[in-house]
Amino acid sequence: MSYLELLYSVFIFLCFASSTWSLNNTSHIKCSAQQRNSLLMFKKSLTYLNLSIDVPMNRFTPCKDWLGSSYYPKLMNWNTSTDCCNWDGVTCDHSTGDVIGIDVSCGMLQGTIYSNTSLFNLPRLKKLNLAYNVFAGSQLPPEIGRLSNSLTLLNLSFCLFSGPVPMNITLLHKLVSLDMSLNRFTFEPHVLNNLLRNSTNLEKLSLIYITI
Ligand SMILES: *[C@@H]1O[C@H](CO)[C@@H](O)[C@H](O)[C@H]1NC(C)=O
Ligand SMILES: *[C@@H]1O[C@H](CO)[C@@H](O)[C@H](O)[C@H]1NC(C)=O
Ligand SMILES: *[C@@H]1O[C@H](CO)[C@@H](O)[C@H](O)[C@H]1NC(C)=O
Ligand SMILES: *[C@@H]1O[C@H](CO)[C@@H](O)[C@H](O)[C@H]1NC(C)=O
Ligand SMILES: *[C@@H]1O[C@H](CO)[C@@H](O)[C@H](O)[C@H]1NC(C)=O
Ligand SMILES: *[C@@H]1O[C@H](CO)[C@@H](O)[C@H](O)[C@H]1NC(C)=O
Ligand SMILES: *[C@@H]1O[C@H](CO)[C@@H](O)[C@H](O)[C@H]1NC(C)=O
Repeated sequence: MSYLELLYSVFIFLCFASSTWSLNNTSHIKCSAQQRNSLLMFKKSLTYLNLSIDVPMNRFTPCKDWLGSSYYPKLMNWNTSTDCCNWDGVTCDHSTGDVIGIDVSCGMLQGTIYSNTSLFNLPRLKKLNLAYNVFAGSQLPPEIGRLSNSLTLLNLSFCLFSGPVPMNITLLHKLVSLDMSLNRFTFEPHVLNNLLRNSTNLEKLSLIYITI
């Protein structure tokens, strides 16, 4: 083999290697089966709103004005035919495949959030936006504290939650944005004080229409 031929084949090899390497880096990272199952369990615990009979949402939600014809149940394409990193409202870390964001705001969802909700089984979840869905009768479970090592954004605006905000919310020391507006929460002053003392990264706090 001449020197040029050798150089040429090294070049071809490098091209081949870098293309498979980048393929692995882009399309082969998938969300773990465990995290996918947690998302599917969350989906299974909910039903879709029917706007012709579910009057409260129909009357009060601004989602229809905001989204028009794209106001549809967000979890519709959450099924095993595609990788869960491609599901509506799901964001993954591209290097690890961990689920790091869930935004199902205006998702036309209805149900109860219990303390055993599989959402709290997502150990790298940074952003959770459940705003403008109907979780009437749900409280914020103290187990929200299980997300303390990752959660930076929590948006529960207009979800019809009720009851006391649990002390464990003060464990979420990485929070940058917290929106609990337009629910029937009661926020005990000492819980709020501890939250403000502990969440030193907090930049946005929205508590419109909450009893303190
Ligand atoms: C790409 O990923 C596959 C499956 O994870 C693995 O078998 C293969 O060795 C990887 N290839 C490279 C070039 O890293
Ligand atoms: C919504 O409710 C109406 C009235 O009961 C019914 O006719 C319709 O089929 C329902 N739509 C869905 C998607 O379930
Ligand atoms: C699964 O989701 C895909 C879109 O990602 C959709 O085309 C398909 O109809 C869904 N399948 C079921 C059984 O819902
Ligand atoms: C979660 O808790 C609720 C209420 O306690 C219960 O009805 C439900 O079966 C539980 N779900 C799972 C998956 O354990
Ligand atoms: C949150 O509170 C519950 C009971 O109030 C407690 O059992 C649990 O260990 C606390 N911490 C976390 C991280 O959930
Ligand atoms: C503040 O956060 C730390 C770390 O999560 C926790 O150990 C501590 O109990 C929290 N303090 C209050 C007052 O909630
Ligand atoms: C929470 O989500 C709602 C609906 O998407 C949005 O209008 C609101 O601005 C969000 N809150 C924060 C603090 O970003």
